[in-house]
Amino acid sequence: MIDGKVIILGIESSCDETAAAITANGRELLSNVVSTQIADHAPFGGVVPEIAARKHVEMAIPVVDQALAEAGVTPDQIDGIAVTYGPGLAGALLSGIATAKGLAYGWNKPLIPVHHISGHISANYLDHIDLEPPFICLVASGGHSNIVAVDGYGKYRLLAHTRDDAAGEAFDKVAKVMGLPYPGGIRIDQLAQSGNADAFAFPTTRFEKGCLDFSFSGIKTAVMNTVNNIKDRGEEIPLEDVAASFQAAVTKVLVKHTFEAAVREGYKTVCVAGGVGANSELRRRMVTAGAKHGMRVCLPSKPLCGDNGAMISCAGYYEYMAGHIGDMTLDAVTRDNSIYQN
Ligand code: KG4
Ligand code: ZN
Repeated sequence: MIDGKVIILGIESSCDETAAAITANGRELLSNVVSTQIADHAPFGGVVPEIAARKHVEMAIPVVDQALAEAGVTPDQIDGIAVTYGPGLAGALLSGIATAKGLAYGWNKPLIPVHHISGHISANYLDHIDLEPPFICLVASGGHSNIVAVDGYGKYRLLAHTRDDAAGEAFDKVAKVMGLPYPGGIRIDQLAQSGNADAFAFPTTRFEKGCLDFSFSGIKTAVMNTVNNIKDRGEEIPLEDVAASFQAAVTKVLVKHTFEAAVREGYKTVCVAGGVGANSELRRRMVTAGAKHGMRVCLPSKPLCGDNGAMISCAGYYEYMAGHIGDMTLDAVTRDNSIYQN
């Protein structure tokens, strides 16, 4: 405790960022340290699970030390240690969990298991201090594309999910086809700034009426075919136009389904979470749709869209307040829908 405020250390290691952060009463960010492994995975064109796990083992304690130092917090002032237990890469998750367990045991503090998606959603609480449930949240990352009804802190209903690729995965795969270096999502965003979004009509899948699920494997194949046809003709690929057209198609369907969900379920606030939440076109379309529907739109700041410890610390605070404490048998879960109450 500091000045009567609950202090939570959050640790995140589910994919390729080793991250630690400290919050006070969940929503006041005292420090947020992210050590990215992008340079380690870039030569392979994607995340290599074993490299990720080994790099987390190497960086976890230095990152925690830095988070403590930057926050000016000592271990005795910490009330709990929150850690991502899943979903994510097994080895990557286990290194974060082992670190959190060691610290919890050594410092005699409660261990707080946090679901990665609950963390992403909670990033909104850090940037919008008055935001409270209920709201609808689009979670679009490298591993997930979900529309979630947030009915209370830690109370979630899954309204839609992707039937195949996640939105971020589609961005990364399309970027690879376009010959862009990893990680591709942000590069497509940058190229699209100077492209013509009407240059190509890339199709998006719609399921039966009323179904808000996503599918992004079809559009990925369509971009691949277009790019290969241009290559076969010996022409130069108009990278900016392909990026803008692809990005427009994906963000359009993400926003459309999210607002359809909000209208259908009667929610007045819409939030965004996950790495794709940093996409500039998605952010623009969200704001425009919010104004059209008369709904509040909350976007996390770009650094809190991608994986970070702050979101885990914030979600961990609400778990701690609800009495959801883990023990030394905590294990990694690579796939996990247990947070959803439907
Ligand atoms: O949430 P996140 O950091 O990790 C997962 O939980 O998956 O999301 C990473 C994903 C990657 O697919 C990355 O390419 C994508 O988010 N991403 C973007 C942008 N920045 C990151 N996609 C589109 N536009 C961006 N600006
Ligand atoms: Zn993530």
